[in-house]
Amino acid sequence: MNKKLCFVSCLVSTALICSSIPSAPASALPLMQGDLNGDFIINNTDVALLQDYLLGKNNIKSAYTALADVDGNGQIDSFDLTQLKNDINTHAGKIPGGTWIAVGDKGVRYYNFEKGSVIEENTGKTTSFTCSVKSNDIRFNKAVQSNSSHAVYSWREKDEVINLTWDDGYREALHLYSKEPINYSKLLSGTYISNKGLTYEFCGVNGCYKIKDGRRYDFEYSLKDNSIYMKFGGDGYVRKVGLTYVDSMHLSLKWEDGSVERLTLRKVEVKNGITYINGILIANKTYALPSTYNPGGLTSETQSAFNKMSADAYSSAGLSLRVCSGYRSYSYQSTLYNNYVRDRGQAAADTFSARPGHSEHQTGLAIDINNASGYFDNTPEAKWVEDNCWKYGFILRYPKGKQDITGYKYESWHVRYVGYPLSKEIHDSGLTLEEFLCIDSVYK
Ligand code: DAL
Ligand code: ZN
Repeated sequence: MNKKLCFVSCLVSTALICSSIPSAPASALPLMQGDLNGDFIINNTDVALLQDYLLGKNNIKSAYTALADVDGNGQIDSFDLTQLKNDINTHAGKIPGGTWIAVGDKGVRYYNFEKGSVIEENTGKTTSFTCSVKSNDIRFNKAVQSNSSHAVYSWREKDEVINLTWDDGYREALHLYSKEPINYSKLLSGTYISNKGLTYEFCGVNGCYKIKDGRRYDFEYSLKDNSIYMKFGGDGYVRKVGLTYVDSMHLSLKWEDGSVERLTLRKVEVKNGITYINGILIANKTYALPSTYNPGGLTSETQSAFNKMSADAYSSAGLSLRVCSGYRSYSYQSTLYNNYVRDRGQAAADTFSARPGHSEHQTGLAIDINNASGYFDNTPEAKWVEDNCWKYGFILRYPKGKQDITGYKYESWHVRYVGYPLSKEIHDSGLTLEEFLCIDSVYK
């Protein structure tokens, strides 16, 4: 939040730098040109104040005089009055287009007035509404902010800023985020790691990237025309970086020099000792499950997705798919692994059998189909599973030639349930789960 407040007050000072008139105090909302009484609303009260000031009838508080220079030419004169009236008239009764990011004490949210949606950044909660605008009033058909459905708003198209003051007194500063309506999945927020070894953080209108040696570069950003406009503190230069949403977890950035950088979302959560990367439960050589973790068998989603897949394999191709091994407890995996170590040695066992706590079978999300051995390779069933399992929310977890990445030899029979449409994204990427998430699978 501090960062955001800092950005907002930076805006205030930037707006005033060009003027020789004393600057207005920093505030949680950007003061707009024309807001002569500093109430965050530009309306006829301000017009009257400016009119009287030009007639020598009153003085504008010194803190706000800079705001009287509405056209920003360094002088306060009748042109400012005309401009102020224009600013008010242009927006009276007009619904703002595009997506606006709101920054206030209660968090960050994204408004699209035309489409009628507000998205809470933290939770993804989306409220749909219809709204109407009359003069400085914006009315919603339901409460959009706490219990408020009415706000007074001021809008300066030039500055791409809207101030909202709600009935309960809550104030939000809105900045133009994107000219397009935007879905929650398209919000640029969170931490991303890049294939060039950089870590990016996006939050609201503030971002930064860190390079390998730990140096950090801050920027402010907005989204327009399929690009991110990054304004860096140092030189104030705005870089236009092409933005492509590859899938729900990947972005591609095209820099001005033509180079392309691939970004992977990185959200790590550990709940009850279980690691979730971008919400996906992970069990591999790096990430272990607690020995007590027991979902009680295959999860119901996994079982029903398998039933559907099996029924379709039969009806469409006459193939029979059965669960050969589904959920395996920690202790059962221990027995299996220890037997392999005894018979084949640990180095060999580690190439095809997971140590207890590291097997995906303990998650209740993995299934070995028909025959967990090389005999399943190249069978019509194996081919069908490889081609079709993504349609049912499964991925082939240990593909051929990826042992160095997954930690295990090819297993034509082992599928992992991740749910649709993620299974399609992973399938379309041609990557293993480790590559898709940019994680490793090695015993530490
Ligand atoms: N065969 C896989 C790697 C397991 O033991 O979980
Ligand atoms: Zn398996």
